[in-house]
This record gives sequence, C-alpha cells and structure tokens, in this order.
Amino acid sequence: MAHSFEILVMTPAALGDPTLAVAAQRAGHLGILNAELPLPEGLLEAGLDTLARMTDGGYGLRIDDPDAALALAGRHGARGLGCIVLGAPCALANPETVAAIRAAGVAVLIETTRWDDRLAGPLAAQGVILKGHEAGGMVGEATSFILLQQAMTAGAERIIVRGGVGLHSAGALRAGGAGGVVLDDQCLMLRESALAERLAQTLGRMTGAETALIEGADGLRWRGVERPGQGSAAALRSNVARAGSDGQADVARAAFGWDLAAGQIAPMGQAAAFAPDLAQRHASLGRLARAIQDHSAAAVARAARGDVLGEGQGVAAPHGTRWPIVQGPMTRVSDTSGFAQSVAEGGGLPMIALALMRPAQADTLLAEVAGKLAGKPWGVGLLGFAPSALIKAQVEVALKHGPGFALIAGGRPDQAVALEADGIPSYLHVPSPRLLSMFLEQGARRFVFEGRECGGHVGPMSSMVLWDSMVRTLLDEVTDPKQAEGLSVLFAGGIHDARSAAMVAALAAPLADLGIKVGVLMGTAYLFTEEAVSGGGIVPTFQKMLLDCRETVTLETGTGHASRAALSPFAEEFAERRRTLEAQGVGAEDMREALEDLTLGRLRIASKATERKGDDLKKVGVARQKQEGMYMIG
Ligand SMILES: Cc1cc2nc3c(=O)[nH]c(=O)nc-3n(C[C@H](O)[C@H](O)[C@H](O)COP(=O)(O)O)c2cc1C
Repeated sequence: MAHSFEILVMTPAALGDPTLAVAAQRAGHLGILNAELPLPEGLLEAGLDTLARMTDGGYGLRIDDPDAALALAGRHGARGLGCIVLGAPCALANPETVAAIRAAGVAVLIETTRWDDRLAGPLAAQGVILKGHEAGGMVGEATSFILLQQAMTAGAERIIVRGGVGLHSAGALRAGGAGGVVLDDQCLMLRESALAERLAQTLGRMTGAETALIEGADGLRWRGVERPGQGSAAALRSNVARAGSDGQADVARAAFGWDLAAGQIAPMGQAAAFAPDLAQRHASLGRLARAIQDHSAAAVARAARGDVLGEGQGVAAPHGTRWPIVQGPMTRVSDTSGFAQSVAEGGGLPMIALALMRPAQADTLLAEVAGKLAGKPWGVGLLGFAPSALIKAQVEVALKHGPGFALIAGGRPDQAVALEADGIPSYLHVPSPRLLSMFLEQGARRFVFEGRECGGHVGPMSSMVLWDSMVRTLLDEVTDPKQAEGLSVLFAGGIHDARSAAMVAALAAPLADLGIKVGVLMGTAYLFTEEAVSGGGIVPTFQKMLLDCRETVTLETGTGHASRAALSPFAEEFAERRRTLEAQGVGAEDMREALEDLTLGRLRIASKATERKGDDLKKVGVARQKQEGMYMIG
C-alpha cells in the first residue's frame, strides 16, 4: 500500500523527553521535540543532542521564540535538525526569521490554531500544521475538522492535522485532504512514553470529555487535564480573566506541567483518551504509525466506492428518503410546514422542532405539516429534559398526525423505547462512548453522534474525537450481524458539503460494512438555503448575518450548558459579561443563572425578529435584531 500520508510525532509539551521523537525517526517518521511550553533549563539542548546522537537526522523542533529558533537552526542544522515548527502568530510576525532559518538549511512548518489565508501562501509552503480545538495546550475555537475544511478551501499545501487523531478519524482526515497527522497525546501509553506509568490511571478513565477548557480574551484558549477536585482549571480561569490580554499567555503557560498532584494541568487534548486502547492494540510507536497509515488508506479507498452515504444508502432506505440525510430539529427555525416541505422535496428527512412548544400550537403545526407533506416521511424533535408532562402532551399530539420518526435531544433510552412502542422509531443523542454502551444495553437502537462543531447546544467532544470513539465502541460491542442491521447512526456537527460528507463516509465505512445503517444529520447547512427563508424558518436578516459571519463561538452558561453561535455583538456582550463574573469570582450557580437570563429570547429575536411581551409577540427592528439576536449556527 502506498504511504503518502505523513505521520509526525510530537513529544509531550513541558517535558523535554525526546524518546518518542527518537522512536518516530527510527521508524521512518518525523519526530519533533516539543518546546511549545517552557522546558526546564537545559532540557531543550539536551533533547536535541540526544536526537543528534540517536537518529540519522532530519528531526524537528516545535518552538515559539523566533530568536531562539534562528540560533538553534544555526547551531543544530548541520547536526541533524531538519525542521522547525513555529506558531503562526510568531511566523507571520517574523517572515524574515522564517527566511533566515530556511537559508540555514532548516525547513519551517507553521502551526496554527486559527485559519489565516496567508497560510496558503509562500510563507507556509513547506507545510502547515492545523492544531484543532480538541488538542492540548494552547488552542483556538476551530476544531481539526473545521480547520482542515478551511485550509482545503484556501488551497494550502502539505496540510498536517494535530488534535483528535485516532485510527478512524485519521481516515476521515485523509479523505478530507490532509497530507498527514501529528501524533502526540495518542502516544502517551505506548512503550516509548516516559509518562505511561504516571498517567495510566488518569488515562484509563478518560473519554476526552474530561479535558478542561480555559477561555481567555482575544480568542485564546488552553486545554488540559487536571486532577479531579484540585480546582486547578477554575483557578486558572480566574487568573487568566484577571490577567487580561497582555498577561494571560504567561499565566496560562506557567500552570501547565505533568505533576497533577501538585496542581499542575497536563497539556493533553481529548485524543489522550485514545492512548490506552491504541497502546493495547499497537504497543509501539512504529506499529501505531503503520496502523494509521494502512487503516486510513483503506478507509479512503472504501469511501471512494460511494456506497456509504450514496443515494438510497444507509438510513435512506429505513427513512424512505432519497438521501441518507436528516435535517436536525432547530428550535425557532424548523417550526414551519413550508421549510419542512422543502427539506422533504430535497430528499432529506425534515424534523420539526417541538422544543418547549405548547401542545395546542404543536397540534396546529403538525396538522399543517402532515397535510403539506402528503405521505412523505417527516419527524419531530423533542427535548428529553423538558418537563415530562409537556413531553407527554407533545407526544400525544404528535401521534395524532403520524410522524415517521422522533429525535430526542438529551433523552434517555426509556423515552426512546416508549416512543418505539407507540410506533415511532426514535433517535437519541449520545454524547460519550460509555453512554453508548449503556444505551445499547438498555435497548436503544438509533443514535446521533454530534460533535462540538454543531450549531445550537454543544457537548464537549469534537466530531473527530466523538466519532472515532463511537465507531470503535460499536465495532467492539456489536459483533452479531443481526444486531448490526437493527442499528441506525447519524453523524452530526460540521457536516455541510461533499468534503465533510466524504470524511464521514471514510470514518463510518467499517460500520456500514458491518450492516449498521449510517447517515448524516445537518442543521447549519440548511440555514444557508433559500428555502429556510422562503419557508418561514428564518427571516432574511438572520441569513445575512450568517453569510457575513467568519467565526463561531460557544456561549457557555455553566458546565455542560454551552451553545454555538455566530460571533456577533450579542456573543461579544455575553463573553464580556462572563469574564467579568469570572474575574469577580462569582459562584457557578449564580453565574449560570445570570448568563441564562441574558440569553433568554435572543434566538427568537435573531430567527424570527420577534420578542415576547406578556402573551403577545412583538416585531423587532433590524438594528436591534442585529445587535441583540443570538445567531445559533455551527
Ligand atoms: C438554531 C438551531 C437550533 C437548534 N435547536 C435544536 C433543538 O431544538 N433540538 C435538537 O435536537 N437540536 C437542535 N439543534 C441542533 C440541530 O438539530 C443539529 O443537531 C445540528 O445543527 C447539527 O450540527 P450542524 O449545525 O453542524 O449541522 C439546533 C441547531 C440550530 C442551528
């Protein structure tokens, strides 16, 4: 099998131990000594010396200090230092240093946490590493999945992805156009890892959702793992908020390290959760790298056959739709019959969002939908955490109008099983692999795996990490083809076009081969359609705001309560208020209440240009709509 897919290996940040980089070089891959966080005195030079002594040269160094980088290129270039990886802010601000390092015969790769079109130009011609939101240490808002799509659209050369890389997600990234991946956290339990023993217990329990995210000003974020109960991440959040733009990076860098018992935060990303399984299956770095190359090549070839998500494939047959595509229920958007009709005519399965809709209103709406769709399949979206009396009343109303399917956000298996008994096949969102095992055991059969890239309410795990974990869990647990045939799974979060769907096809191919029905669920993509406006889902200003939007952010009111929305005046107001509350040391519960109050009614202002005044809905003007609306998108 041809191996044009590169594997780069970075040593753990803030450690200075070069063993993994040595192993990578010896296995024919690029090993990189990682000095993105300060290393204890002398370890950087010592690490480079070890690499010079123990390998044939060509190894790399990740560093952010331009002067030190140039000096090291001069001193170590001739001894075997083959490339330097600079952070994008450092490289973009010092193009002459980049040129000087190259003139010294050392290649320069640029690592970025945020896409910038200049990275498709000559400065980054030797390669770009896209460091996703799910990675450890300093990160941005965009995940590996999103960054890759941005880089491919811009036409960048030699794109390497760091963050969220597992055996299955590597196939997706390769299908999406990545030229290679960085392994870092995934290697922590391999036999070459100096931290394997120290981290065995922590990593053994991890799913990826445990990593803490610390959000600073100016879009800077840090991710890591703290010892539970230490409060290190909470303390760092307050310190970062107090330090503000100028001091936050130094404050954050100083908090990272591998002594968790002493309150340090380990610079690990979500893919650290893959480490124990990968170590058990592959043991050494050479074997893991080989497995990723082989598996990803096979996944791309398999997806290229076009029958994983093709017309009539996967969930299309059980849904009775042309495509294995479901339009995700969207509160205050997918609540009109006109929009549902367009989705159905386009070959997808429309889902009416019942959310907290009163039963009488739901009755009128669903009667209209059933009439307009005239036999075409459609479904309803319920909120599993809504008051049970309301859900019961909504289901009673829905049953009158015969939806073919239901999707329960935040739902439990017993809710799905009850709906199925009423004749409505029902999907459940499953946010973690452990819950998936439990849900399977409790009789649920239809699942949505939605990554953090999605619009609306988001979970902690990125699509690459969540999807990889879920595919692995299903392959481990579902061995009987009969059981497989009864299962349907929808992938969601950041899917919107041919490339993103091809990535899902590569990742989901092993499930399709097992007989599991697969499909995709999309929300945001539908918001960009003419029919979302003409069908009354959203007003024109909402769509205009989305078309102008260059970045999305998550608005987090409290742990487990975050929504993704366009960066807008309201999103900025929200972030500012949150930072103020954090700097004041306000307790979690009070903070959640204050921030939830702030978001109340803001989606309706954005999507419908109305607001509730007592029992009435009043029109909101365009200026206020732009200023005060919350534009939920992924
Ligand atoms: C404006 C908006 C409102 C949403 N409301 C709901 C909802 O009420 N229930 C639900 O299950 N999902 C809701 N979602 C999530 C979508 O159903 C879907 O899962 C998500 O949009 C998929 O990710 P994508 O946006 O990257 O395509 C909402 C999404 C958006 C953008």
